[in-house]
Amino acid sequence: MASKGDNSKKALIEGLNGTLADHFALYLKTKNFHWHVRGPRFRDLHLLFDEQATAILAVTDLMAERVRKNDADTLTSIGAIAKATKIKDQDSTTLDPDAMIKQLADDNTTLVADLKALKEAAEEAGDNATSAVVDEWTDAAELRVWFLREHLR
Ligand SMILES: [Fe+2]
Repeated sequence: MASKGDNSKKALIEGLNGTLADHFALYLKTKNFHWHVRGPRFRDLHLLFDEQATAILAVTDLMAERVRKNDADTLTSIGAIAKATKIKDQDSTTLDPDAMIKQLADDNTTLVADLKALKEAAEEAGDNATSAVVDEWTDAAELRVWFLREHLR
């Protein structure tokens, strides 16, 4: 029989690995748009997307290591990311800039919701360190949503 503690720990690990997969998937989508954006706003958007991709990638190691510090296994491959992420692939190279911005704003909004759920899972499992650091990840995702939305005005 699994105890309540085992269940809350399992939910925390799934939350961390799912959020990690989402960050990797969104990193690559943001890079796709960095590479393929076209038009008069090229320079602004090319640079914005690169900044955001760098910020997204920067938190992945911390997330994976929170899983390992909880004595569980984390992601191992692109295949493992594909299985665990809820961020949809976007393989078009010809989206217009507003469609790119809208997609990234929506995906980052999904991350904010995931991170809020992860916060609850961390509290439930008594993982104080994850609970503390997840606030920074949430703030970073909210910053990206804000910057993206301002480009849609
Ligand atoms: Fe670049």
